[in-house]
Amino acid sequence: MAAEPLGGRPSDLRGKRIAGYLVESEIGRGGMAVVYLARDLRLDRPVALKLLAPELARNDVFRQRFAHESKVAAAIDHPHIVPVFEAGETDGLLYIAMRYVPGQDLRALLDRTGPLPVETAARIAAQVASALDAAHAHDLVHRDVKPGNILVAEGTDSEHPEHVYLTDFGLTKKSLSLTGFTSVGQFVGTLDYVAPEQISGKPVDARCDVYSLGCVVYETLTGSPPFRRDDDMALLWAHQFDPPPAVSSRRPGLPAAVDEVLAKALAKSPDDRWSSCLEFTGALRRAGAESDPQPGAPPPPPRWALPVLGGYDAG
Ligand SMILES: Nc1ncnc2c1ncn2[C@@H]1O[C@H](COP(=O)(O)OP(=O)(O)O)[C@@H](O)[C@H]1O
Ligand SMILES: [Mg+2]
Repeated sequence: MAAEPLGGRPSDLRGKRIAGYLVESEIGRGGMAVVYLARDLRLDRPVALKLLAPELARNDVFRQRFAHESKVAAAIDHPHIVPVFEAGETDGLLYIAMRYVPGQDLRALLDRTGPLPVETAARIAAQVASALDAAHAHDLVHRDVKPGNILVAEGTDSEHPEHVYLTDFGLTKKSLSLTGFTSVGQFVGTLDYVAPEQISGKPVDARCDVYSLGCVVYETLTGSPPFRRDDDMALLWAHQFDPPPAVSSRRPGLPAAVDEVLAKALAKSPDDRWSSCLEFTGALRRAGAESDPQPGAPPPPPRWALPVLGGYDAG
């Protein structure tokens, strides 16, 4: 796949050397950092070089959060989490070098293609779920699951058409821990995927990622997140108190079972949600398959055959 930079924005860092890396082009920008395609000069291979935005580099909270991100991502060795090669500081610039993932993030993919087939949505969600459950097993909560933090690369074969990575562990927090990395910049980005308990300031645990993943899946299936409101306050209110519209109301033809699976992911109370991300995405896959029965699967027996097949019932 061509390493075409997203947006192709010119950048003053292009051609500059940062530590052992030569910056080639900008590939993405988030709330906190700019990500460049760069060349690792020692190993002569492409890397994604993430740099803390210079305007944030003087702020200790952001510096700590950035350093924290590199440690968290490096601590989890998982096929759906981008491997970190190195992190450091040079000339006042904080950087993380990680595997360059050719492709696009799910935000760009959805903007380009619109809603995805149920099967594709379930496949992508399952890979993100696998990464999240692994983070949760380390007692880490991602807290910023959204399409811009999901990278979709070409898969290995026809059975695995895409390989998905979860990125951006900048807001990750130890489950239930109330220390450090609080409010500053917590809501710098979009509010479309934020869980009710994050809004009300209650302690968050893995189940807030289940909610956010639910919002992402909802958008992957319908083209927009569950709640659309004119302003942030109304959106925050909706996450906390409004029932999410059934997915099938925005995409007619989806099996009712998919509605139920999504409703459980988007429950207001964490206790009412799926207890893990993979439990959620497994149910999603099974529910989606109902709309499209496997060719060759035998149809259920007709009613008149039941006495024969299910034991004779003379009544
Ligand atoms: N390893 C990578 N390979 C390719 N592109 C990446 C990589 N990491 C991030 N990106 C791109 O850069 C964007 C911003 O990266 P992200 O880690 O989410 O930073 P931020 O904390 O600023 O949101 C992503 O949405 C994605 O498009
Ligand atoms: Mg991001």
